[in-house]
Amino acid sequence: MVTRIDNLMHESRRFPPTVEFIADSVVGPEIYAAAAADRLAFWADQARTLHWHKPFTRTLDWEDAPFAKWFDDGALNVAYNCLDRHVLAGNGDRVALYFEGEPGDSRSYTYAELTAEVKRAANVMAGLGIVQGDRVAVYLPMIPEAVITMLAVARLGAVHSVIFGGFSSESLRSRIDDASAKLVVTADGGYRKGKVFPLKHAVDAALAAGTESSVEHVLVVKRGGNEVEWQHGRDLWWDEEMAAADVEHEAMPFPAENPLFILYTSGTTGKPKGVLHTSGGYLTQTSFTHRAVFDLHPETDIYWCTADVGWITGHSYVTYGPLANGATQVMYEGTPDSPHPGRWWEIIQKYGVTILYTAPTAIRSFMKIGRHIPQAFDLSSLRVLGSVGEPINPEAWIWYRDIIGGGNTPIVDTWWQTETGAIMLSALPGVTTLKPGAAQVPIPGIAIEVLDEAGTDVGLNSGGLLVVSEPWPSMIRGIWGDPERFVETYWEKFGTKYFAGDGARRDHDGDYWLLGRVDDVMNVSGHRLSTAEIESALVSHPMVAEAAVVGAEDEATGQAVVAFVVIKESQAHAATADEASTLLRAHVAEQIGAIARPKLVFLVAELPKTRSGKIMRRLLKDVAEGREVGDTTTLADTSVMRIITDKLS
Ligand code: WTA
Repeated sequence: MVTRIDNLMHESRRFPPTVEFIADSVVGPEIYAAAAADRLAFWADQARTLHWHKPFTRTLDWEDAPFAKWFDDGALNVAYNCLDRHVLAGNGDRVALYFEGEPGDSRSYTYAELTAEVKRAANVMAGLGIVQGDRVAVYLPMIPEAVITMLAVARLGAVHSVIFGGFSSESLRSRIDDASAKLVVTADGGYRKGKVFPLKHAVDAALAAGTESSVEHVLVVKRGGNEVEWQHGRDLWWDEEMAAADVEHEAMPFPAENPLFILYTSGTTGKPKGVLHTSGGYLTQTSFTHRAVFDLHPETDIYWCTADVGWITGHSYVTYGPLANGATQVMYEGTPDSPHPGRWWEIIQKYGVTILYTAPTAIRSFMKIGRHIPQAFDLSSLRVLGSVGEPINPEAWIWYRDIIGGGNTPIVDTWWQTETGAIMLSALPGVTTLKPGAAQVPIPGIAIEVLDEAGTDVGLNSGGLLVVSEPWPSMIRGIWGDPERFVETYWEKFGTKYFAGDGARRDHDGDYWLLGRVDDVMNVSGHRLSTAEIESALVSHPMVAEAAVVGAEDEATGQAVVAFVVIKESQAHAATADEASTLLRAHVAEQIGAIARPKLVFLVAELPKTRSGKIMRRLLKDVAEGREVGDTTTLADTSVMRIITDKLS
């Protein structure tokens, strides 16, 4: 990774905003000065663009650091801000969502229609006993009901926990249990690569797996049309409940710090963290960044973020940011290549998409299949392109700009995390001179530093640890049920400065370059995975004695999961190496989800360890990336690496 970034920093192409773009830009350069002059006043002004049932008088309370409170004496309703207020402002006829299903079906919702649906759904949930503070698990495909569910939960002041549809029933179970969810909203199935993938089935398995479950009801959206089993009394069809529900629902105000959602993400241990976000600050920063970073003109833009609602990008830049801003957006259910490799470009042409927000891994896969695919479509409506999830290499950046953006479309590379809730580093397209490969500068009102282990600023052009040095409105408020882990993970290192887990470097122009994770978190196709979590899935298999997982550099997916496994003596003859490797890859997919399935599983006799028994993943990474193995002097048994490399070569 470091070598790649070193090369990348020699990138010398620069793209200043054009005169035409500047003329119509939502924000100008003065915004940086305004934010710098009084950071808290700046955020308070941004917060006041929302509708507050009860205005706040306090902006930030950092007394109990690292537990922050923003706008905490104010009260608002998040769903009202995303829906009712646009209708009341006379924009009820504006399209909020253009939905495109993978099989080719489509439907759209105006703001008035979406508001009506959310009101009904809120009544359905209230009828099932959901009140402020209750947790609702959401396990849905990328269909409008996912957004409707999130907003209905928010409308009631309850807390959603969206679980990506690609996670297994095991992962679902542990997330439902950790948050003690009372209700699960799912679908019979959804479409993916031309087939229906079952979801309700996984919910049944998750709820059957343990003993007592907190879940009282399962609401099931009909989407896939696949057969489902039914538990009377517990399971309810969404459409029947919606048809019977009252369409009137008054949005009640909730305190700004009322929990809005929990989103589980991988950390450095085997157990995913339930990252907690609250209402007023989160909505303030997601809506501000969505407007400023994408130069949103809600009357004319057609915005499309390709992320699934199961990830933070889908929360902040499909549901909350765009809808708070009254934007018109496209939502697509399926995969980019189904039923044909030009599906995305066809959608852009069909709806006249003007702003596209996606991940480098998608761009790289399009580069691989060739420019003739997008070039067969009219993409001239595009005027801003966004990137998120991992560093975008200059080659992909230029391809994105030239082939998708017609050679004149600004690209904003946005750095942020599940924990930050909203974009933290990015260019502003009407202000910043773009530099391919850099995440560029802090968003106005955000304070970033690059420090060494001792907490000293490393200065310009040196690698260090990326830190957010002042609290920000959409920051993580805690780890669900585990305040100690929250403090330990993010704050123990630098006190009241937030440690992000990423390496970074700041260049002479003040632009930031991301150097990848410095902990045991991997980034595969922009998805966060934990080495420890996959290791613990592997050792849960009866064949496995020990396992070590590394994220190896991969051209297509950024990183790939590579596992080194020691098989138990007693199982040595139970399967051939190929069989064992297939079996274990499937086992991980079953335990965590297909996204965590290792690309490669190497069976080894021993793992390289230090004298104190710590696995030296660095050496395994060398092997997995096909490099000469580095310094082995701290190994307890220096012959181990030779045995591993001999066996593999
Ligand atoms: C990485 C996704 C470089 C980073 C929004 C971070 C990035 C992790 C970028 C968070 C970017 C995200 N450039 N690296 N533009 N965006 N990352 O929580 O390592 O799924 O810590 O949030 O992705 O992943 P998460």
